[in-house]
Amino acid sequence: MLQGKTILIGVSGGIAAYKAAEVVSRLRKCGAETHVVMTESATKFIAPLTLRILSANPVHLEMFEEPKLWNVAHIALAEQADAALVVPATANILAKMAIGLADDFLSTVLLAMRKQIFVAPAMNHAMYHHPATQENLACLRKRNVRTIGPAAGFQACGTEGDGRMSEPQEIVEQVMEYFSAAKCLKGKKALVTAGGTQEPLDPVRYLGNRSSGIMGYAVAQALQEAGAETTLVSAPTSIEVPAGVRPVSVTTALEMFEAVMERFAETDIIVKAAAVADYRPVDISGQKIKKQKSNLHLELISNPDILEQIGQRKTHQFLVGFAAETENLLKYAQEKMNRKNVDLLVANDVTKPGAGFGSSTNIVSFLFRDGKRIDWPKMPKIEIARQLVHEIAVMMGLEKKEE
Ligand code: CTP
Repeated sequence: MLQGKTILIGVSGGIAAYKAAEVVSRLRKCGAETHVVMTESATKFIAPLTLRILSANPVHLEMFEEPKLWNVAHIALAEQADAALVVPATANILAKMAIGLADDFLSTVLLAMRKQIFVAPAMNHAMYHHPATQENLACLRKRNVRTIGPAAGFQACGTEGDGRMSEPQEIVEQVMEYFSAAKCLKGKKALVTAGGTQEPLDPVRYLGNRSSGIMGYAVAQALQEAGAETTLVSAPTSIEVPAGVRPVSVTTALEMFEAVMERFAETDIIVKAAAVADYRPVDISGQKIKKQKSNLHLELISNPDILEQIGQRKTHQFLVGFAAETENLLKYAQEKMNRKNVDLLVANDVTKPGAGFGSSTNIVSFLFRDGKRIDWPKMPKIEIARQLVHEIAVMMGLEKKEE
């Protein structure tokens, strides 16, 4: 339920605006206090009066109207809300949000929001698939805006495809899930490893791998959102540390090993998303290795398997491993799960399009110790991370399983 929660509902101008009425009504039935902001074009699709009655509050339309109370209305609204929800979110409002434009009441209030923002995109499927819209959505997701849908099916313009707004019931369920999942890991300490370790050969070269770190950073963000005190032990990446997460920078597998071991005893949840180099050069040259006429032979020595070592020592810790494979995915993943003694293993075939290194999406399976398996379709990594955190919370007895 949403008792005690204030939700700001932004309605932008698309045909799906009529569905905003049902969203507002359902949110109120769940106990939320609702405030609606409409764009001028939204008022062409649905009357403000409808939303005023359903939300039981005045509808905000204009930036410079005479205020009923003495406050700066857009700032007051943004501060008062526990979350904002844009239904429908047209290509236009998404573009404005992505570049931070504030030229009307809705875009201004969204720019002032510091809490969770949800958007339910709704537009013609060609507009949805336009690279500009896709880039805007990717940019918003990176800033932790959550997208709900869109769904596929019949569109008002007479075509079929994705771009239809998700149904009001689903939109409200996702908002409720956010508030119920929120803070279920409060009081727990989590540690995530991410990125690809680098093993120096000389002052200018290293042995590395293609891991971008996106998946591990997404897991850290999802754990943090769920209330866990989260530390991110990261090999070098080019991505920003999620808000509230404590970063620990490492370069090599040995440094990562030490950083994890130091914190192991006090940690409740460990997620090893990093791609750790299995070997390092025996000798690191103090000077740049010069080109030779003959072949160059490198001698490599094994690095510790961090996950296997903590798997052997674990007491109360919940352990999640990753398995990136290019063949025999489930067989190799199952072997890793047993060998490393993990509670849950995330397996992905990195050769599939839309999966693995550098991609913002992934295609994974969750493997559980009792033999159960969940195969996920292609999803944004942050959504996979949230599902993973949900499963962790369920297995730790901190959240109920959704049926
Ligand atoms: N891992 C680790 N330390 C290592 C190697 C891997 O902690 N030295 C962890 C990874 O973080 C991941 C899991 O073990 O959670 C599996 O990593 P992966 O590279 O897929 O497997 P490996 O054990 O290295 O086996 P292989 O390279 O033969 O596939």
